[in-house]
Amino acid sequence: MGFITINGKKVEFTDEKNVLTIIRKAGIDIPTLCYHSELSTFGACRLCTVEDDRGKLFASCSEEPRDGMVIYTNTDRLRKYRKLIVELLLAAHCRDCTTCVKSGECVLQNLAHRMNVYKVRFENHKEVMPVDYSSPSIIRDPNKCILCGNCVRVCSELQGIGVLGFANRGTDAVVTPGFDKKLSETDCVSCGQCRVFCPTGVLTIRTNMDEVWAALADKDTRVVAQIAPSVRVA
Ligand code: FES
Repeated sequence: MGFITINGKKVEFTDEKNVLTIIRKAGIDIPTLCYHSELSTFGACRLCTVEDDRGKLFASCSEEPRDGMVIYTNTDRLRKYRKLIVELLLAAHCRDCTTCVKSGECVLQNLAHRMNVYKVRFENHKEVMPVDYSSPSIIRDPNKCILCGNCVRVCSELQGIGVLGFANRGTDAVVTPGFDKKLSETDCVSCGQCRVFCPTGVLTIRTNMDEVWAALADKDTRVVAQIAPSVRVA
């Protein structure tokens, strides 16, 4: 047990495993993308970064609380860095928000609105990757991935399957089934947990309309005609 001072207010902690949990327990809102209490801590997005009384910055999700700590969660510096993180994530992210099924529920989109990020100053040099329509239940669009690793951890840690993992490095880093397989070629059991933990629209549940998109992508006129007779394939 001990106390930490958050934004000038003393907060008691007992067995909380990280500073982020104490911040939230105190009712203070702090953005996160890669933290989930049911999964191991990854510390990738850095949105939960806080500042201590010596000006040191650290990710609150990955820091154990110490008695006497003094931290700030919403300084000018932190707001500036968080906004930059969101802008950089958006820069490497497919921004077809208007047609994305996750629009309105996307954590990244909501953060961008909240932080007034309406313009991205950086160019996206990432290659457009094919969308995986192979699974009967889940669609995977790697172009919307922000590398938070939530799907990787839920699939291996909670579900014990481990279909998804990281591949490549730097700007080529991607989350994918091993050996670039399609979801239908893996041990995926279509539990949908990856979809639940994904903060953006990478993993979504397949609907009838998605059959049409998949068939359009394959130029499969027969399937399109069956499901949506009014749609004409160019
Ligand atoms: Fe802490 Fe992502 S939530 S680094």
